[in-house]
Amino acid sequence: MNVLILGSGGREHAFAWKIAQSKQLENLYIAPGNAGTAHCGTNVNISATDFEAVKKLVWEKGIDMVLVGPEDPLVKGIHDYFLQDDVLKDIPVIGPKKDGAQLEGSKDFSKQFMMRHGVPTARYQSFTKDTCEEGKKFLETLEPPFVLKASGLAAGKGVLIIDNIKEAKAELENMLLNAKFGDASATVVIEEFLHGIELSVFVLTDGKSYKILPAAKDYKRIGEGDTGLNTGGMGAVSPVPFADEAFIKKVEEKVVKPTINGLVKDGIDYRGFIFIGLMNNKGEPSVIEYNCRMGDPETEVVIPRIESDLLDLLDGVATQTLDKKSFAVTSQTATTVVLVSGGYPEDYEKGKVVSGLEKVEGSQVFHAGTKQDGDKVVTSGGRVFAVTSFGNSIKEAVATSFSNAEKITYDKKYYRRDIGKDLMEWKGY
Ligand code: AMP
Ligand code: GLY
Repeated sequence: MNVLILGSGGREHAFAWKIAQSKQLENLYIAPGNAGTAHCGTNVNISATDFEAVKKLVWEKGIDMVLVGPEDPLVKGIHDYFLQDDVLKDIPVIGPKKDGAQLEGSKDFSKQFMMRHGVPTARYQSFTKDTCEEGKKFLETLEPPFVLKASGLAAGKGVLIIDNIKEAKAELENMLLNAKFGDASATVVIEEFLHGIELSVFVLTDGKSYKILPAAKDYKRIGEGDTGLNTGGMGAVSPVPFADEAFIKKVEEKVVKPTINGLVKDGIDYRGFIFIGLMNNKGEPSVIEYNCRMGDPETEVVIPRIESDLLDLLDGVATQTLDKKSFAVTSQTATTVVLVSGGYPEDYEKGKVVSGLEKVEGSQVFHAGTKQDGDKVVTSGGRVFAVTSFGNSIKEAVATSFSNAEKITYDKKYYRRDIGKDLMEWKGY
């Protein structure tokens, strides 16, 4: 099979690394890819949202399957574009069509979906500029902290959690009346604050059956001890000790099944990954959000734990035979530590020369924001590498990730040295 992966981050490198191991693979292309994906297949320098260019590439290279990494092309309708094109319509796209991608693209849609299908989630209401005053009244019915969410895609920045009601009302106005997040905040979801511990559960579905992939915990804040600004994710751990078999079973019954059945009932033929952001409140799951793709850096721990052939599983998605595919996961723990550019998630410099990659031992380094510049690897993004390791415990795995994180050097490198620490110390609810 000839496969094209769209995207350029650590998630896409992890996909490429895994698919490159498949016996079913002939040629692998990654667009645009990074310096790491170039070792798994051929990078092609086109944007994942330039559908015309993707079409040309698919045609020229005889691509048999397209795996979409990020949400942007999905929300913009790349799957629909394929289905509506005579040349492309029979080439499977892994990732939902526009209707399914709304689970991530519109928080208002996803909250309505959850209510409609009985998926546990925080109480909420949605507001627009015409109902801003009602929104302020709704805030008064809630306990602090107040959760305000731009309904549309806002590059992970559209959620505000505010302690003070006056400030919450002012921010609501800012979002609705002053377009704080542009069009994304034309509708704002206000919801109850959920208490508990957060984790992510990933599901692969062919629209009929599903496989629950390993769960993971992501470390979103830039600073140690979960302080400072939100980032795309500074590290991840899988499995998570507070998501034992009994909890995952509960998630399957209360969240996964109603979600998959709900999609079918709504006439949404969903083929791809569903990322379910969950709060675990003393053993009870509640959905924070859906994403229509895998998480990053969660993919860098979830995919390495899958022992089965990923391409075979994706073929199951494309042909709706996922229920017939074998699916095995290692019980070993995987951790990943993300190395970022100094200054991230605010302004940072690019083009720093990387050295020490050849000294890494016992970890898999996934490139996130790198570029090949002649014979050198240089930084080209905020998140630069995800250093993934296995161990018999979080402590063992993360020690290997840290020791290799130290060996990779570039100017203004930063990483969190406390990934997994809270989970090592976790003693139950
Ligand atoms: P989202 O973009 O919906 O994932 O929200 C970003 C982050 O805000 C989540 O990962 C949570 O940590 C936090 N968050 C969102 N909604 C809630 C909520 N209702 N209660 C508590 N925390 C929340
Ligand atoms: N790591 C969180 C995300 O991919 O959205």
